[in-house]
Amino acid sequence: MFSIKKIKQVVKEHYGRLAQQGKSCCGNAGHLELIGYSKEELAKLSDDVLNVGAGCGSPVTLAELREGEVVLDLGSGGGIDVFLAAQRVGLRGRAIGVDMTEAMVERARASATKLGFTNVEFLLGEIETLPIADASVDVVISNCVINLVPDKAKAFSEAFRVLKPGGRLIVSDIVTRGKLALKGDLAAWAGCLAGAVEDREYLKIIADAGFERVEIIAHSPVPEPEGFYSVTVRGYKKPDAGSIWLGR
Ligand SMILES: C[S@@+](CC[C@H](N)C(=O)[O-])C[C@H]1O[C@@H](n2cnc3c(N)ncnc32)[C@H](O)[C@@H]1O
Repeated sequence: MFSIKKIKQVVKEHYGRLAQQGKSCCGNAGHLELIGYSKEELAKLSDDVLNVGAGCGSPVTLAELREGEVVLDLGSGGGIDVFLAAQRVGLRGRAIGVDMTEAMVERARASATKLGFTNVEFLLGEIETLPIADASVDVVISNCVINLVPDKAKAFSEAFRVLKPGGRLIVSDIVTRGKLALKGDLAAWAGCLAGAVEDREYLKIIADAGFERVEIIAHSPVPEPEGFYSVTVRGYKKPDAGSIWLGR
Protein backbone atom coordinates (compact mmCIF):
# COMPACT_ATOMS: atom_id res chain seq x y z
CA MET A 1 0.00 0.00 0.00
CA PHE A 2 1.17 3.57 -0.66
CA SER A 3 1.64 6.39 1.83
CA ILE A 4 -0.83 9.27 1.90
CA LYS A 5 2.03 11.56 0.84
CA LYS A 6 2.74 9.43 -2.25
CA ILE A 7 -0.92 9.22 -3.27
CA LYS A 8 -1.31 12.99 -2.99
CA GLN A 9 1.84 13.61 -4.98
CA VAL A 10 0.59 11.39 -7.83
CA VAL A 11 -2.87 13.02 -7.77
CA LYS A 12 -1.33 16.51 -7.80
CA GLU A 13 0.97 15.65 -10.70
CA HIS A 14 -1.92 14.16 -12.68
CA TYR A 15 -4.21 17.20 -12.25
CA GLY A 16 -1.29 19.61 -12.66
CA ARG A 17 -0.64 18.10 -16.11
CA LEU A 18 -4.34 18.30 -16.94
CA ALA A 19 -4.44 22.01 -15.97
CA GLN A 20 -1.44 22.74 -18.18
CA GLN A 21 -2.52 20.63 -21.16
CA GLY A 22 -6.13 21.77 -20.89
CA LYS A 23 -7.83 18.57 -22.01
CA SER A 24 -9.56 16.08 -19.72
CA CYS A 25 -11.30 12.81 -20.42
CA CYS A 26 -14.63 14.35 -19.58
CA GLY A 27 -14.56 18.00 -20.59
CA ASN A 28 -16.59 17.70 -23.79
CA ALA A 29 -20.11 19.02 -24.17
CA GLY A 30 -21.67 15.56 -24.70
CA HIS A 31 -20.20 14.13 -21.52
CA LEU A 32 -20.98 17.22 -19.44
CA GLU A 33 -24.62 17.18 -20.53
CA LEU A 34 -24.84 13.48 -19.82
CA ILE A 35 -23.71 13.97 -16.22
CA GLY A 36 -26.39 16.59 -15.62
CA TYR A 37 -25.32 20.04 -16.81
CA SER A 38 -27.67 21.92 -19.11
CA LYS A 39 -26.59 23.13 -22.54
CA GLU A 40 -27.70 26.67 -21.65
CA GLU A 41 -25.55 26.94 -18.54
CA LEU A 42 -22.51 25.42 -20.27
CA ALA A 43 -22.89 27.97 -23.08
CA LYS A 44 -22.14 30.74 -20.56
CA LEU A 45 -18.66 29.33 -19.83
CA SER A 46 -15.47 29.27 -21.90
CA ASP A 47 -13.56 26.32 -23.36
CA ASP A 48 -10.75 27.05 -20.86
CA VAL A 49 -13.19 26.01 -18.14
CA LEU A 50 -15.11 23.25 -19.92
CA ASN A 51 -12.09 21.45 -21.38
CA VAL A 52 -10.75 20.58 -17.93
CA GLY A 53 -14.13 19.66 -16.44
CA ALA A 54 -13.54 16.33 -14.73
CA GLY A 55 -16.73 15.77 -12.76
CA CYS A 56 -18.95 12.71 -12.54
CA GLY A 57 -22.25 14.44 -11.72
CA SER A 58 -23.69 17.92 -11.42
CA PRO A 59 -23.98 18.81 -7.73
CA VAL A 60 -24.59 22.47 -8.53
CA THR A 61 -27.71 21.56 -10.52
CA LEU A 62 -29.09 19.59 -7.57
CA ALA A 63 -28.09 21.99 -4.79
CA GLU A 64 -31.18 24.24 -5.14
CA LEU A 65 -28.99 27.31 -4.67
CA ARG A 66 -30.68 30.53 -3.63
CA GLU A 67 -29.62 34.11 -4.27
CA GLY A 68 -27.23 35.43 -1.65
CA GLU A 69 -25.90 32.06 -0.52
CA VAL A 70 -22.19 31.33 0.05
CA VAL A 71 -21.09 28.13 -1.72
CA LEU A 72 -17.85 26.23 -1.24
CA ASP A 73 -16.61 23.72 -3.86
CA LEU A 74 -14.15 21.09 -2.59
CA GLY A 75 -11.56 20.25 -5.28
CA SER A 76 -12.75 22.94 -7.68
CA GLY A 77 -10.33 22.09 -10.53
CA GLY A 78 -10.80 24.47 -13.48
CA GLY A 79 -13.77 26.04 -11.70
CA ILE A 80 -16.78 24.77 -13.67
CA ASP A 81 -19.04 24.32 -10.63
CA VAL A 82 -17.79 27.50 -8.92
CA PHE A 83 -18.73 29.58 -11.97
CA LEU A 84 -22.14 27.94 -12.30
CA ALA A 85 -22.80 28.36 -8.57
CA ALA A 86 -21.73 32.03 -8.75
CA GLN A 87 -24.31 32.67 -11.46
CA ARG A 88 -27.03 31.08 -9.32
CA VAL A 89 -26.26 32.89 -6.05
CA GLY A 90 -25.81 36.24 -7.78
CA LEU A 91 -23.83 39.27 -6.68
CA ARG A 92 -25.18 39.17 -3.12
CA GLY A 93 -23.72 35.64 -2.82
CA ARG A 94 -20.27 34.15 -3.31
CA ALA A 95 -18.73 30.95 -4.64
CA ILE A 96 -15.37 29.74 -3.33
CA GLY A 97 -13.26 26.92 -4.75
CA VAL A 98 -10.48 25.11 -2.89
CA ASP A 99 -7.97 22.92 -4.71
CA MET A 100 -4.53 21.60 -3.77
CA THR A 101 -3.10 21.70 -7.33
CA GLU A 102 -1.45 25.05 -7.98
CA ALA A 103 -1.82 24.94 -11.79
CA MET A 104 -5.58 24.28 -11.44
CA VAL A 105 -6.04 27.23 -9.07
CA GLU A 106 -4.07 29.48 -11.43
CA ARG A 107 -6.14 28.33 -14.41
CA ALA A 108 -9.42 28.91 -12.56
CA ARG A 109 -8.31 32.39 -11.41
CA ALA A 110 -7.35 33.31 -14.99
CA SER A 111 -10.77 32.14 -16.22
CA ALA A 112 -12.51 34.20 -13.52
CA THR A 113 -10.72 37.32 -14.72
CA LYS A 114 -11.39 36.55 -18.39
CA LEU A 115 -15.08 35.83 -17.82
CA GLY A 116 -15.49 38.87 -15.55
CA PHE A 117 -16.69 37.07 -12.40
CA THR A 118 -16.49 39.26 -9.29
CA ASN A 119 -18.21 36.94 -6.81
CA VAL A 120 -15.79 34.00 -7.01
CA GLU A 121 -12.58 33.14 -5.17
CA PHE A 122 -10.14 30.27 -5.73
CA LEU A 123 -7.95 29.21 -2.80
CA LEU A 124 -4.97 26.89 -2.82
CA GLY A 125 -5.47 24.38 -0.02
CA GLU A 126 -6.34 20.88 1.07
CA ILE A 127 -9.82 19.62 1.75
CA GLU A 128 -8.62 17.87 4.89
CA THR A 129 -7.54 21.23 6.39
CA LEU A 130 -9.78 23.79 4.71
CA PRO A 131 -8.59 27.43 4.73
CA ILE A 132 -12.16 28.47 5.61
CA ALA A 133 -13.66 29.76 8.88
CA ASP A 134 -16.05 27.69 11.02
CA ALA A 135 -19.79 27.95 10.19
CA SER A 136 -19.22 30.40 7.34
CA VAL A 137 -20.81 28.77 4.26
CA ASP A 138 -24.39 27.83 3.36
CA VAL A 139 -23.66 25.03 0.92
CA VAL A 140 -20.71 22.70 0.33
CA ILE A 141 -20.52 21.01 -3.07
CA SER A 142 -17.91 18.70 -4.58
CA ASN A 143 -17.60 16.86 -7.88
CA CYS A 144 -15.61 13.66 -8.26
CA VAL A 145 -12.96 14.59 -5.71
CA ILE A 146 -13.46 12.88 -2.35
CA ASN A 147 -12.60 9.50 -3.93
CA LEU A 148 -9.11 10.99 -4.41
CA VAL A 149 -8.76 11.90 -0.73
CA PRO A 150 -7.20 9.15 1.39
CA ASP A 151 -8.73 10.42 4.67
CA LYS A 152 -12.41 10.78 3.73
CA ALA A 153 -13.56 11.08 7.35
CA LYS A 154 -11.37 14.16 7.79
CA ALA A 155 -12.64 15.65 4.50
CA PHE A 156 -16.29 15.34 5.57
CA SER A 157 -15.61 16.56 9.11
CA GLU A 158 -14.01 19.68 7.62
CA ALA A 159 -17.05 20.16 5.36
CA PHE A 160 -19.24 19.88 8.48
CA ARG A 161 -17.10 22.39 10.41
CA VAL A 162 -17.30 25.14 7.76
CA LEU A 163 -21.05 24.77 7.13
CA LYS A 164 -23.46 27.05 8.97
CA PRO A 165 -26.08 25.24 11.08
CA GLY A 166 -28.89 24.28 8.68
CA GLY A 167 -26.41 24.21 5.77
CA ARG A 168 -26.28 21.44 3.19
CA LEU A 169 -23.74 19.21 1.48
CA ILE A 170 -24.24 17.97 -2.09
CA VAL A 171 -21.46 15.74 -3.39
CA SER A 172 -21.11 13.81 -6.64
CA ASP A 173 -18.57 11.01 -6.49
CA ILE A 174 -17.61 7.55 -7.65
CA VAL A 175 -18.42 4.67 -5.30
CA THR A 176 -18.38 0.91 -5.62
CA ARG A 177 -20.88 -1.90 -5.33
CA GLY A 178 -19.27 -4.18 -2.81
CA LYS A 179 -15.59 -4.18 -1.88
CA LEU A 180 -13.15 -3.85 -4.78
CA ALA A 181 -9.40 -4.19 -4.62
CA LEU A 182 -7.56 -1.69 -6.81
CA LYS A 183 -5.86 0.03 -3.88
CA GLY A 184 -2.38 -1.00 -5.01
CA ASP A 185 -2.65 0.81 -8.35
CA LEU A 186 -1.36 4.40 -8.16
CA ALA A 187 -2.55 5.37 -11.66
CA ALA A 188 -6.02 4.18 -10.71
CA TRP A 189 -5.93 6.52 -7.68
CA ALA A 190 -5.43 9.54 -9.93
CA GLY A 191 -8.10 8.18 -12.30
CA CYS A 192 -10.76 8.32 -9.53
CA LEU A 193 -11.08 4.54 -9.07
CA ALA A 194 -8.63 3.12 -6.52
CA GLY A 195 -9.72 5.53 -3.77
CA ALA A 196 -13.44 4.88 -4.27
CA VAL A 197 -15.18 3.18 -1.35
CA GLU A 198 -18.31 1.08 -1.14
CA ASP A 199 -21.57 3.07 -1.46
CA ARG A 200 -22.87 2.27 2.03
CA GLU A 201 -19.47 3.00 3.60
CA TYR A 202 -19.45 6.39 1.83
CA LEU A 203 -22.85 7.29 3.30
CA LYS A 204 -21.74 6.13 6.75
CA ILE A 205 -18.57 8.28 6.67
CA ILE A 206 -20.76 11.32 5.89
CA ALA A 207 -23.23 10.49 8.66
CA ASP A 208 -20.38 9.85 11.12
CA ALA A 209 -19.04 13.34 10.37
CA GLY A 210 -22.29 14.71 11.83
CA PHE A 211 -24.53 15.11 8.78
CA GLU A 212 -28.22 14.22 9.01
CA ARG A 213 -30.75 12.92 6.46
CA VAL A 214 -27.88 11.56 4.33
CA GLU A 215 -29.15 10.04 1.09
CA ILE A 216 -28.33 9.37 -2.54
CA ILE A 217 -30.36 11.82 -4.62
CA ALA A 218 -29.10 10.98 -8.14
CA HIS A 219 -27.23 8.40 -10.14
CA SER A 220 -25.18 9.31 -13.18
CA PRO A 221 -26.07 7.41 -16.37
CA VAL A 222 -22.41 7.41 -17.47
CA PRO A 223 -21.05 3.88 -17.45
CA GLU A 224 -18.02 3.39 -15.21
CA PRO A 225 -15.76 0.30 -15.10
CA GLU A 226 -17.54 -2.75 -13.72
CA GLY A 227 -18.34 -2.45 -10.03
CA PHE A 228 -18.10 1.37 -10.00
CA TYR A 229 -20.86 3.94 -10.37
CA SER A 230 -21.33 7.60 -9.64
CA VAL A 231 -23.84 9.09 -7.26
CA THR A 232 -24.85 12.45 -5.88
CA VAL A 233 -25.34 12.43 -2.12
CA ARG A 234 -27.02 15.08 0.03
CA GLY A 235 -26.77 15.65 3.79
CA TYR A 236 -27.65 18.47 6.17
CA LYS A 237 -26.04 20.07 9.20
CA LYS A 238 -28.75 20.34 11.83
CA PRO A 239 -30.11 23.87 12.32
CA ASP A 240 -29.67 25.63 15.68
CA ALA A 241 -32.40 24.96 18.26
CA GLY A 242 -35.41 27.11 17.46
CA SER A 243 -34.61 27.33 13.72
CA ILE A 244 -36.35 25.33 11.03
CA TRP A 245 -34.99 22.97 8.36
CA LEU A 246 -34.77 24.89 5.10
CA GLY A 247 -34.13 21.89 2.87
CA ARG A 248 -36.83 19.56 1.65
C1 LIG B 1 -11.41 14.83 -10.87
S1 LIG B 1 -10.87 16.49 -10.62
C2 LIG B 1 -12.44 17.31 -10.42
C3 LIG B 1 -12.35 18.79 -10.58
C4 LIG B 1 -13.69 19.55 -10.55
N1 LIG B 1 -14.42 19.26 -9.36
C5 LIG B 1 -14.53 19.25 -11.77
O1 LIG B 1 -15.67 18.80 -11.63
O2 LIG B 1 -14.05 19.51 -12.88
C6 LIG B 1 -10.26 16.44 -8.95
C7 LIG B 1 -9.68 17.74 -8.40
O3 LIG B 1 -9.56 17.59 -6.97
C8 LIG B 1 -8.32 18.13 -6.53
N2 LIG B 1 -7.97 17.44 -5.28
C9 LIG B 1 -7.76 16.12 -5.09
N3 LIG B 1 -7.48 15.85 -3.80
C10 LIG B 1 -7.53 17.04 -3.15
C11 LIG B 1 -7.32 17.42 -1.78
N4 LIG B 1 -7.02 16.53 -0.85
N5 LIG B 1 -7.45 18.74 -1.46
C12 LIG B 1 -7.75 19.67 -2.42
N6 LIG B 1 -7.93 19.36 -3.72
C13 LIG B 1 -7.84 18.07 -4.09
C14 LIG B 1 -7.38 17.89 -7.70
O4 LIG B 1 -6.29 18.77 -7.65
C15 LIG B 1 -8.29 18.09 -8.90
O5 LIG B 1 -8.27 19.43 -9.36
